Amino acid sequence: MAQDLINQALDYYQANYEKLHQEFLHLLRIPSVSTADAHKNDIQKAADFLVEKLTTLGFTKVKAHPTSCHPIIFGEYTKHPDKPTILLYGHYDVQPPDPLDQWDTDPFDPTIRGEHLYARGASDMKGQVWATIAALEAIIKTGDLPVNVKFLIEGEEEIGSPSLDKFLEENKAMLSCDLVLNPDAGMLAPDKPTIIYALRGLAYFELRVYGPAADLHSGVFGGVVDNPANVMCKIISGMHDEKGHVTIPGFYDDVRKLSKEESEELARLGMGESFFKDITSVPALGGEQDFPPVERIGARPTLDVNGLYAGFIEKGAKTIIPSYAMAKISTRLVPDQDPDTVHEGLKKYLENNIPETVRWELDLMSAAPAYITESQAPGLDQFKSALKATWGVDPLNKREGGSIPVATSMKNILGVDSIITGFGLPDDQIHSPNERLHLPTQKKGVEALIRFFYSF
Ligand code: BES
Ligand code: MN
Repeated sequence: MAQDLINQALDYYQANYEKLHQEFLHLLRIPSVSTADAHKNDIQKAADFLVEKLTTLGFTKVKAHPTSCHPIIFGEYTKHPDKPTILLYGHYDVQPPDPLDQWDTDPFDPTIRGEHLYARGASDMKGQVWATIAALEAIIKTGDLPVNVKFLIEGEEEIGSPSLDKFLEENKAMLSCDLVLNPDAGMLAPDKPTIIYALRGLAYFELRVYGPAADLHSGVFGGVVDNPANVMCKIISGMHDEKGHVTIPGFYDDVRKLSKEESEELARLGMGESFFKDITSVPALGGEQDFPPVERIGARPTLDVNGLYAGFIEKGAKTIIPSYAMAKISTRLVPDQDPDTVHEGLKKYLENNIPETVRWELDLMSAAPAYITESQAPGLDQFKSALKATWGVDPLNKREGGSIPVATSMKNILGVDSIITGFGLPDDQIHSPNERLHLPTQKKGVEALIRFFYSF
């Protein structure tokens, strides 16, 4: 009986694949970059498009709720008061596409090459949002969605979800649910469906170093006026020791150690040196050499410069002492680190190390602690069964190095652990040029979601 309904929904998806795919392409063509003010209109367009889609599917209360930054979309399909309620999460914003000259095709003109669809946001995460919508449509059009579904789709995930906590706090009743499905992560390989049980957190900083009032002639003043670019380089190089450890005071104090069992389990995932070298084309790996790569990604905190600016960076040469240097620096955090403690440690490091020849400012741009499932997330068994029915293998359990702040927020504010998963792959080039989505994996994802929704 349920199997008949599942088959009808799968058939609908097959028969309507092209129509659904065209709608997906429309969403990908909207450059909904959350970090740039210039894209405010596109953010609104993407939100409007999704509001319209959910409304057409028969969702109620569908609305793009304004926030002080980008709108949060909410809509629900709740026809069975006696059944559980699934809160679905998604984000419709994307990372900036730059550097544009490294894309083989326009980031907002989705293009198929081989089995992949290339576009900014194709994998992270419009393709995952669309998989969820496609599965819901297939069920709604062929049967009676046997669970209650609430959909929350934010537009600020890629900038640290600044409006989300307030929205969750203010709308607890509207968002009440029995389980949360968050497909903003991915799988280890096309034949390895994966459940993520831990994510790293993030504390993101901007450091500005100011020297002379204006750029100076480096011959006339070099040797007497300190150079903010030199200072910045020295400060940054001091943030790691020669073994790859971060030197910020207290940085590792609260890091939760892996148990021997978990360490062994992670070792079995096959995420060794060659896994990372193959994907990234680097000649050798960096980081803390006294931990295996899989632990460096999942269970160890890191510090990275994400952007660096100082002085003359155009073609040619210009002899100046720049007046200013700036670095974007982020730390990835693990359980039980507190972003505020890390912020304090970084301030202390800067106070102790920046010379008095310059002035400096440090801003905390976003902060989110790590996430780890303490007890099994509700609905996880059903989700694992749906993955197994689709891929024919048991899903893997894995820690993820990326961050999805909403998982921690939902746990703290709504009191529900999330099923964290997704149908993106490690070589999807998310946040990079030529981001892409593996279309056969997305299709399987839709099938798995159909089975999942029918398992209640
Ligand atoms: N989808 C990613 C996080 C992710 C990537 C999870 C790969 C699993 C596998 C998410 O959209 C993301 O990039 N998040 C940001 C969060 C930050 C801005 C607070 C990140 O991790 O940099
Ligand atoms: Mn994402």
